[in-house]
Amino acid sequence: MEQDASMDPQALARRFPSHFVWGVATSAFQIEGATHEDGRADSIWDVFCRQPGAIADASNADLACDHYHRWQGDLDLVQQLGVSDYRFSVSWPRVQPLGHGAWNPKGFDFYDRLVDGLLQRGLAPNLTLNHWDLPQGLQERGGWASRDTVHRFVDYAAEVARRLGSRLRTLTTHNEPFVQAVLGHESGIFAPGIRQRGMAIQVAHHLLLSHGLALRALRAQGLECDLGIVLNLSPVQSASDDEVDRARARLEDGRLVRWFMDPLFRGCYPDDVLHELGADAPRVEQGDLGIIATPNDFLGVNYYSRSVFGAAGAVDPRQLSGQITDMGWEIYPRGLTELLCRLHRDYTLPDVYVTENGAAFPDQLVDGRVQDAARTRYIARHIEATADALAAGVPLKGYMVWSLLDNFEWASGLAKRFGIVHVDYATQRRTPKASAKWYRDFLLAMRASAAA
Ligand code: FCB
Repeated sequence: MEQDASMDPQALARRFPSHFVWGVATSAFQIEGATHEDGRADSIWDVFCRQPGAIADASNADLACDHYHRWQGDLDLVQQLGVSDYRFSVSWPRVQPLGHGAWNPKGFDFYDRLVDGLLQRGLAPNLTLNHWDLPQGLQERGGWASRDTVHRFVDYAAEVARRLGSRLRTLTTHNEPFVQAVLGHESGIFAPGIRQRGMAIQVAHHLLLSHGLALRALRAQGLECDLGIVLNLSPVQSASDDEVDRARARLEDGRLVRWFMDPLFRGCYPDDVLHELGADAPRVEQGDLGIIATPNDFLGVNYYSRSVFGAAGAVDPRQLSGQITDMGWEIYPRGLTELLCRLHRDYTLPDVYVTENGAAFPDQLVDGRVQDAARTRYIARHIEATADALAAGVPLKGYMVWSLLDNFEWASGLAKRFGIVHVDYATQRRTPKASAKWYRDFLLAMRASAAA
């Protein structure tokens, strides 16, 4: 592995306070499997996987990492890393099969055991309510495009909080509303596979509205853990200094960043994007924007890469710095610092966590080992970028690697591997990669510098 000062665990550890949160993240649909067990019903992703051509390798998540049966060993792996926190999500159709009406006790039992299993191992649970797997029963009633789903989500949030809330450190309403709205309802490459821009915008509005309403309901219920939302954000840069390129980049920044940050932290939608949407602008009822701007305890930021736009559209990442991951995403650690500093400059932020950061590479298991030097370097570089943002005054409280395990990477199927632990899908054998060992060494160094 190329020697690089930023990869020295000791030097990096000295740049963080001892109480900084370190974690690994997963999501229910991507790891659990057991899609037809113990009363779970279909989510929109189960249905989407059955559409010919929807998933690149024609795989599905029926088995995935079989985490539903192997969760104890998986939590042991988390513990062995030496992290303080684990981020996971609840599968809504496991605990309320249709998304309305009856609760499924067996579904709740699983998360009960999981949360207790974390606490027993000294790990703090960070629960996400919606990591994309909407019950199909609600899709059949209009899904997120229907305002009724907002109220169903608030009921679901309240029930999860009632059963598990007192044992959580953080609770997140939604993971990446942009992706659910735009990839699910505009480009249609993710579930539920719809292609209507106006609907995508309405879905985004309903996701934000349900976030605000859920926060109010959970606080009224007396829930004490920290509440927030997770957004996928990137710096959006212009391909050149030309005014036409800059205008396009500014609009794309509006769509990706300001469309979500402005209503959440300023109580309004950005005018330039509203103007461009024209007839596709969302139907907003009186009071909605005030609800969306309900204060958050934290903001989660998922960061993978930057975006570069010119007048003609997105610039192919391969034409940029040349270093790309197996997803075709450019490796651009500095973008994380730039993004966090910009958010800190433009908004009054609550606590901030990097809730996802990681990379897919075509790993090879050779003689029982995976030497994923590129991933190790990616993670170390982004932790360094996080330290730079912290030093610049961003109210950062934690960082989590995506992902603990290789898992079902949505429309890319099982072929793209993001784990710091390798999964052999034929045997379900787990093998920590070199990156997991580096992260463990880094966390050991963190502990040693905290004790010093
Ligand atoms: C994010 C998702 C996560 C994972 C990573 C690679 O958009 O939140 O589930 O798929 O990308």
